[in-house]
Amino acid sequence: MNKVLEAQGIVKSYSNVQVVRDGHLHIYPGEFVSIVGRSGSGKSTLLYLLAGLEKADRGEIHYKGRVITGLNEEQLAVWRRDNIGIVFQNFNLIPTLTALENVSFPLYPSKMPASERRQKAMTMLEQVGLADRAHNRPHQLSGGEQQRVSIARSLVCQPSILFADEPTGNLDSDTGDRIMDLFLQLREDHQLALFIVTHDEEKVAARADRRIEMKDGRTYSDEIWEDAK
Ligand SMILES: Nc1ncnc2c1ncn2[C@@H]1O[C@H](COP(=O)(O)OP(=O)(O)OP(=O)(O)O)[C@@H](O)[C@H]1O
Ligand SMILES: [Mg+2]
Repeated sequence: MNKVLEAQGIVKSYSNVQVVRDGHLHIYPGEFVSIVGRSGSGKSTLLYLLAGLEKADRGEIHYKGRVITGLNEEQLAVWRRDNIGIVFQNFNLIPTLTALENVSFPLYPSKMPASERRQKAMTMLEQVGLADRAHNRPHQLSGGEQQRVSIARSLVCQPSILFADEPTGNLDSDTGDRIMDLFLQLREDHQLALFIVTHDEEKVAARADRRIEMKDGRTYSDEIWEDAK
C-alpha cells in the first residue's frame, strides 16, 4: 500500500536544544497511529512538523509522494487546507462565529457558492451529532460539543489525515469515549488516517493500530522511527 505521509530524518531545535531528533515515520491511508510520552518529550512538536504548522530544520516530509518540506508559507497553507485536518486540545473555535460558521470557515478561500458551503458544513455537523446546535456560538456549547464542532471543522475539506493533539484531554471520561468512537466512525466513513497525541493509554492509545512512544525527542515504535545512531 502507498504511504500517505512519510518523514525522513526530520530534526527540530529550539534555542539549540533538539526537540525532535533525526527519525523516520510513515502513515498509511486509514491507519490510526497514537503518540504517547512524557510532557516535554516532543509530541506536539512532531505533530506540528508533520502537519506543516512548523518547519523542520532538516529532513524531508513527503505527502503522497510529494515533498512538502520545501513549500513556502502560502503553499503550505493551501496544502494543509486541501489535505489535512487538525484538532487541538483547546478546540480553537472562533468565539464570535456560530457552530455552522466555524465549520464552514475553512471553505471560504474556495470559490464555492455560499449555499454549497452551508450545505457541506451542515452535513459535517450532522455527522458529529450537532445539527440542532448549528446556530449556537462556542460559549453556548459544552466542552464535548465544542470538540465535536472542531472535529467537524477539521473534516469539512475532506482531508486524508486527521492530526489531533490530546483531543480528549479537556473532556470527562465518557465524553472522551464518545469522541474516540466518533473518530473511529469517521475513519470508517472517510478512509481517514488518524494521528493522535494522547496521555490516555487506556482509552486512546489502546485503540490505535500502532503506538509510538516519544522519549527526549526520539520516537520508539514497533516499526516507525529509526533512531539516528
Ligand atoms: N516554540 C517553542 N519555543 C521554544 N521551545 C519550545 C517551543 N515549542 C516547544 N518547545 C520545547 O520543546 C520541548 C517539547 O515540547 P512539546 O510541546 O513538543 O512537548 P509535548 O511532548 O507535546 O509535551 P506535553 O505532553 O506537555 O504537551 C519542550 O521542552 C518545550 O519547552
Ligand atoms: Mg503537547
